[in-house]
Amino acid sequence: MEQQKRYGHFDDAHREYVITDPKTPWPWINYLGNEDFFSLISNTAGGYSFYKDAKFRRITRYRYNNVPMDNGGRYFYIKEGDTAWSPGWKPCKTPLDFYECRHGMGYTRITGRKNQVEASVLFFVPLKTWAEVQKLTLTNQSQEVKTLKLFSFEEWCLWNAATDMENFQRNFSTGEVEIEGSTIYHKTEYRERRNHYAFYHVNTEIQGFDTDRESFVGLYNEFSNPDAVVEGLPRNSHAHGWSPIASHYIEVTLQTGESRDFVFLLGYVENEQDKKFSAPKVINKEKAHALIARFDTTEKVDKAFAELNAYWDALLNIYKVKTGNPKLDRMVNIWNQYQCMVTFNFSRSASFFESGIGRGMGFRDSNQDLVGFVHQIPSRARQRIIDIASTQFPDGGCYHQYQPLTKRGNNDIGGGFNDDPCWLIFGTVAYIKETGDFTILDEMVPFDNQPGSEVTLFEHLKVSLDHVINNLGPHLLPLIGRADWNDCLNLNCFSWDPNESFQTTENVSEGTKAESLMIAGLFVVTGKEYVALCNKIAKHEEGQRMQRAVDAMIEAVKKHGWDGEWYLRAYDFYGRKIGSNECEEGKIFIESQGWCTMAEIGADEGMVAKSLDSCKKYLECEHGMVLNNPAFTKYIYEYGEISSYPEGYKENAGIFCHNNPWVIIGECMAGRGNDAWSHYAKILPSYVEEKYQTLHKVEPYVNCQMVAGKDAFRPGEGKNSWLTGTAAWMWYTVSEFILGIKPDYDGIRIDPCLPETAGDYTVSRKFRDAEYDITIRPNGSQKGVKQIVLDGSPVEGDVIPYAAGKHTVEVTM
Ligand code: GLC
Ligand code: GLC
Repeated sequence: MEQQKRYGHFDDAHREYVITDPKTPWPWINYLGNEDFFSLISNTAGGYSFYKDAKFRRITRYRYNNVPMDNGGRYFYIKEGDTAWSPGWKPCKTPLDFYECRHGMGYTRITGRKNQVEASVLFFVPLKTWAEVQKLTLTNQSQEVKTLKLFSFEEWCLWNAATDMENFQRNFSTGEVEIEGSTIYHKTEYRERRNHYAFYHVNTEIQGFDTDRESFVGLYNEFSNPDAVVEGLPRNSHAHGWSPIASHYIEVTLQTGESRDFVFLLGYVENEQDKKFSAPKVINKEKAHALIARFDTTEKVDKAFAELNAYWDALLNIYKVKTGNPKLDRMVNIWNQYQCMVTFNFSRSASFFESGIGRGMGFRDSNQDLVGFVHQIPSRARQRIIDIASTQFPDGGCYHQYQPLTKRGNNDIGGGFNDDPCWLIFGTVAYIKETGDFTILDEMVPFDNQPGSEVTLFEHLKVSLDHVINNLGPHLLPLIGRADWNDCLNLNCFSWDPNESFQTTENVSEGTKAESLMIAGLFVVTGKEYVALCNKIAKHEEGQRMQRAVDAMIEAVKKHGWDGEWYLRAYDFYGRKIGSNECEEGKIFIESQGWCTMAEIGADEGMVAKSLDSCKKYLECEHGMVLNNPAFTKYIYEYGEISSYPEGYKENAGIFCHNNPWVIIGECMAGRGNDAWSHYAKILPSYVEEKYQTLHKVEPYVNCQMVAGKDAFRPGEGKNSWLTGTAAWMWYTVSEFILGIKPDYDGIRIDPCLPETAGDYTVSRKFRDAEYDITIRPNGSQKGVKQIVLDGSPVEGDVIPYAAGKHTVEVTM
């Protein structure tokens, strides 16, 4: 295999990915912030910040699809004589003597060196803080005195990221700022309905500033060479309308060996309505002053940074594996869990592929995300479940998305995605198993956020499954509605108008005929979970009722959902099979293989094994399993968006990483550890990192949503990094099904499924108020626990009963 160029490497001891060449094949980004205040930051310091909602509270401006692609961010310009450079190489692009970007857990450190001056910037959002700290350390490593000019730069967004990009007739007249000492305040629209402002501060005296973009950059220059920097002179400009920015100008003299810190702070403040102003037209800066005072020295910043690191120590101590395979350990112990936190926070809202204005929190997405996150901070997962359930309708249907700021369902996209309701069970059950907190089921939760409509969360779970039961089609399989998990299988859309959205247009059938085998499998999996839950809380009758519905669904799948070698994917509006050997293209789809094997439908009749074999035979390729095969080569009016993508991309036979784990779990349930592992390793970032940095293109430390499939122009190329359900599914798969540590109502179930080559390994798992040190000895076996010894005594069955305190567990397979 050809050796590809490498742009960085893992540093596991520091939990960092170290980028050593700024010209990565695509911007490689990181996320800052855990709650409320967030930033995206690329390896050259591009990106932006927002408060809670990337659409409605965008703090700094970012232009997607720019040229060059990643332009705009928090930039520093260092000028010595005629040479201007930036620590992150961009925007100046002056060649550096040294460059390094370290992306860590909630922080990024970018270091550049030029002519024996080193500039190292630590970017992070401190815990419980509405601000991004940028600690810039300048060091003179030369034998002479250095005289430098330092310019900072941020560009304000006029809050609503959507109108900021389109309503210029208004925007160019509204911009307002205030300058006070070393702080630049952005207060556009504060005079009217907004009660929030932002500021950019530095903890030293400044010798000048700019707040008007054209004064600083110039109309004919660029971020790489702003007028003010080229001339080495700030304009001291006051923005009135046009495009407000914030730039500090600082003159710095450094003796030989001298090092100096500058703490820049990008903050966000909200004021009560009656405390907005301190004098006519003057914003009340009390809270800003308080925030600034928290980070006005290096010591305070270092302390906040240590707290952030301790926070991640604690989070990553909950589940720790030692297998002796560093590529596996680093993903399980560090990056997969980190990505799960990020997807929990962001759903699919803001990445370098998601503009932050299109989508808020997805109903199905967020339920899946929380399964990857629930062990980290269960209380936040609990709140999320309530928020999500509050957007459900009384009949169990639900809004497909909601806005994080308002927590209200998003009317632009509406509902009708018939898989959505089932995911609420998936999320809630994971939460209860992790915490043992059954009280969540008694929480009173409204429908569609309407006061007065509250019922218990348990009732929400019930109507969720009833929504499937009440919407069965001609083969007694679930009606698909607008789409199921596959947003692009739009069987009721029938669109010839390119201006119509595939997902919100429902033209002919009003959804009374097309059926989904994916939902059928999902219903069986979540239905069984619901039955177990009912039995657990002594709702036996309800449990029996659902068991009958589950049994009926299993029968319907066996009767109408089996194609001979694999499960069908769907029936279209005309009652024709989709995902069948009879079809010309799209003969087999991954989703129904994943869900129906996870549901073990027809296992006794050999369906599960055949389906898994067919995945290997028809879907697997070098980079993972494709979504469908063969790819669609033309637009099919009655299938919708799926056939709109060129072959090998996205939902048309791309490797949708998200659903590979479904098949892997199916393999694990069937005890086929070798196959499970080989599928898993193909999409495990650390394995890809080793081989394919150039081809793969996107960040090598996290999963991306889609890798181009075998039919694509460039198989193996990744897209849509970071925000993908893949994170949670990879975590769920490896932690529970491969390594086999499964939280359950009464304890931890031990049920690994491993390749024969697996050696002994240990997992330390914090669980509620207990801590288990588990050693597993596979002895060459792929599946099947022979004996569990808990604190020296053998345990009956495969569940370690929960008891607070520290325990040692020895498992022999
Ligand atoms: C995207 C969406 C997710 C959907 C998937 C498949 O990842 O976020 O909701 O299930 O695409 O279409
Ligand atoms: C497109 C994408 C799909 C995504 C959907 C969300 O259909 O292909 O992945 O889930 O948009 O709106």
